[in-house]
Amino acid sequence: MTDHEQAPAWVINPHVPSVARMYDYYLGGKDNFAADREAADHILAVMPYVRDFTRDNRAFLSRSVRLVADAGVRQFLDIGSGLPTRENVHQVAQQTAPDSRVVYVDNDPIVLAHGRALLAENPLTTVVQADLREPKTLLDHPEVRSRLDFSQPVALLLLAVLHFVADDEEAAAIVAQLRERLAPGSYVIISHGHAGRVSKQDEALVRDAYKATKAGNLTPRSPEQILAYFDGLELLEPGLVPVEAWRPEYDVLPDWDKAGFLGAVGHQR
Ligand SMILES: C[S@@+](CC[C@H](N)C(=O)[O-])C[C@H]1O[C@@H](n2cnc3c(N)ncnc32)[C@H](O)[C@@H]1O
Repeated sequence: MTDHEQAPAWVINPHVPSVARMYDYYLGGKDNFAADREAADHILAVMPYVRDFTRDNRAFLSRSVRLVADAGVRQFLDIGSGLPTRENVHQVAQQTAPDSRVVYVDNDPIVLAHGRALLAENPLTTVVQADLREPKTLLDHPEVRSRLDFSQPVALLLLAVLHFVADDEEAAAIVAQLRERLAPGSYVIISHGHAGRVSKQDEALVRDAYKATKAGNLTPRSPEQILAYFDGLELLEPGLVPVEAWRPEYDVLPDWDKAGFLGAVGHQR
C-alpha cells in the first residue's frame, strides 16, 4: 500500500496505535500490539494512575447500566464500546433482565472481530462497525434498526468516546442528533475525559501520544461543556462528578483536580 492509499475500514493495522487496544492495555487485557503498548507506556510513565481511572470508568459503566436496567430499560446502545472485557453492558444488563437487547458500536474493526466471537451465542446482542461522527448513518444501520425499537426507551451510552471528536460543536451536534431519536423514558449515560489540573507538559504529552493514533486526538473538556450534553434531561443524583464518585459502593470524595473521567446519567422524561 502506498502512503496515499487508505486502508479499508475493516483492516486491522497493528502498526498504528488504536485507542481501543490502548484502553485494553490499560485495563490489563491481551488484545493489543507493540505499537499500542508503546504509545500507552509513554502516558503511563508520567501518569501511572491512568490504569486506575480506566478501571473506575468501567465500574461506572456497571453501576449506571445496573441502575438503568433496574429502572426497567431493556434496550442499550453502547457507542464506542471498546474491546470486550469483564462486565460488558450485556452481561450487566442481562443479569437484571435476561431479555435486555444490546447493540455495541465501534469504528475499530478489532472490536467487531473480538465482539462477534464473544457474542456468537448471545442472540440478543450484536456488534456493529460504524462511526459516531455519522450519527444518522449509525442510527439507520440495518442491525441497529432491527435490534432496537426507538419508540421504546433506550439507554444510550457514550463512555470515554466523545473526547475523540476534536471539534466541540461537532461533538455537541452528535449528541443532539442521537438524543433526537430517543423516546421518553430513555437514559443518556456519558463519561468524558477532563484534564483536571495536570501540568501543561503532561497535557501535551497525552495530546501527542493520541495524535499518533488512528483517532488522531484526545480532547479533554470542561465540566460545563460535558454538562451541556445533558441539557433538557433530568440529571440523576449526584449529577456530573468524577466517575469513581458516581454512586460509589463505598465513600469516595470527588477529586476534581485529578485528570480522569467525569460521568453523569440523564433521564428523558
Ligand atoms: C477509550 S475506549 C472506551 C471503551 C468503553 N466505552 C469504555 O468506556 O470502557 C473508546 C472507544 O471508542 C471507539 N471510538 C473512537 N472514535 C470513534 C468513532 N468516531 N466512532 C465509533 N467509535 C469510536 C474506539 O475505537 C474505542 O474502542
